[in-house]
Amino acid sequence: MSATTPVRPVLPPDITARKGGQPLVMLTAYTTPVARLVDPHCDMVLVGDSLGMVLHGLPSTVGVTMEMMILHGRSVMRGLTKAMPVIDLPFGSYEESPQQAFRNAARLMAETGAPCVKLEGGAHMAETIAFLTARGVPVMAHIGLTPQSVNTLGGYKVVGRDAEADKVMADARACEAAGAFAIVLEKVPQGLTGRITAALSIPTIGIGAGGDCDGQVLVIDDMLGLFTDFRPKFVKRYAELGKLADAAIATYAADVRARAFPGPEHAFADVLPAKAKS
Ligand code: KIV
Repeated sequence: MSATTPVRPVLPPDITARKGGQPLVMLTAYTTPVARLVDPHCDMVLVGDSLGMVLHGLPSTVGVTMEMMILHGRSVMRGLTKAMPVIDLPFGSYEESPQQAFRNAARLMAETGAPCVKLEGGAHMAETIAFLTARGVPVMAHIGLTPQSVNTLGGYKVVGRDAEADKVMADARACEAAGAFAIVLEKVPQGLTGRITAALSIPTIGIGAGGDCDGQVLVIDDMLGLFTDFRPKFVKRYAELGKLADAAIATYAADVRARAFPGPEHAFADVLPAKAKS
């Protein structure tokens, strides 16, 4: 390929075509620098509404607004060259009607440049997923634990054990039939995840759903260990950046108090060094 050949971006149908192949890799990012870090390694980058809790200190994702998603979506887009962005529709922006969902999905796509949206909900959102898909909005569905419904679910629980399993399977089938290009399964028991993955022709992306999905997603701050007090069972910590940062900040504070920082090497001279004579 010549240096001037434009690279065709990865689009939702490319992701659907990866069903059953090499596992799809997805992480969240909310800012340009983090998007630059994850871009070379990921197939998809999720601008998740988890940004409300992770970046803004909200108690849940319920308070996340369209303006927050657009601001962070635009920031992430500036850091991506390869991976496909996916952007969350926030709580309250799509549940009322398919028309409301289209208006906000189109706004998210137009104002960020993302090629698709993600929304939470199974069978009860199927009409909306079909409406969006038919009008040029590719939809990634999200079922199992749907954090925007934490107040009706009564907490961040596993969803799909025992009698609930049939409903989760029906949700997955309804999202596929409505035209979703892929589906996130969050906190779904492992055996059920395997059955859903085998039953669907679209990729399943798991978070806390075991190893039988077509791909995996994690919140970047969780897997980098940026929080010292948040350790969900389904997150593998690939680094302990929170501990590293704490040690670095403590050392900085001690240095400032001891006048050990800044040193002469961090200061500017009053007089410019004389120019060397030729
Ligand atoms: O908002 C988010 O980060 C998500 C993932 C947990 C899948 O929806």
